[in-house]
Amino acid sequence: MENIKAVIFDLDGVICSTDEQHYQGWQALADRLGIPFSREVNNRFRGVSRMACMDILEEIGGKHYTDEEKVEYATWKNDYYRELLGEMSPKDLSEEVKSTLDELRARGYLLTIGSSSKNTRYILQRLGLEGYFDAISDGTNIVKSKPDPEVFLKSADFLSMPYENCLVVEDAISGVEAAHAAGMKAAAVGDAAENNVGDYILESFSDLLRLLPGRNNDLNE
Ligand code: G6P
Ligand code: MG
Repeated sequence: MENIKAVIFDLDGVICSTDEQHYQGWQALADRLGIPFSREVNNRFRGVSRMACMDILEEIGGKHYTDEEKVEYATWKNDYYRELLGEMSPKDLSEEVKSTLDELRARGYLLTIGSSSKNTRYILQRLGLEGYFDAISDGTNIVKSKPDPEVFLKSADFLSMPYENCLVVEDAISGVEAAHAAGMKAAAVGDAAENNVGDYILESFSDLLRLLPGRNNDLNE
């Protein structure tokens, strides 16, 4: 861990819990389209881009939609989801997450976001974290979804940070795979931790403070 200088956080399921809102959005769309859906299927959507989720939904339903239809349906789900996100506020940012981030920053780490979500900046704004991170790589600056490493590589590039100096924090199995494809170690929380994937399994977000000691010795570098 001595070589870690930057921590790249996934957003949904790591910094905040938007799982329920995503699930409700997809469930509503699946109901509209007559496709069976469940929380278990929703787990497959973690870390996966919106249009890639739409492809999975089409496959589950055994349907064949045109590209225009898929865009229309994904937009419908997103509008539903955004409406639910509108109810989020800084109260939805857990004290544990905020104090851990603040302490990591005080210890000298750069903190960035690596999320597939195109709603990243909106969610950060709802949580009162607008302008907090040193860089943001999200669904608006990538063409390939996790498990492709693009989103994490870009996050490191935005800081001009070598990839091996970055640690990823993820809740998605696809996200841990993306970190490894980027040549980065991954600390797992949530679903990824429960499935025992990742180089470090965090029982709780603040376990990061045990993994990442102060970087004060860097002052002499
Ligand atoms: C995150 C979530 C996924 C979601 C993706 C795209 O990675 O874990 O479940 O599909 O973002 O989100 P968006 O907000 O752009 O629809
Ligand atoms: Mg996630």
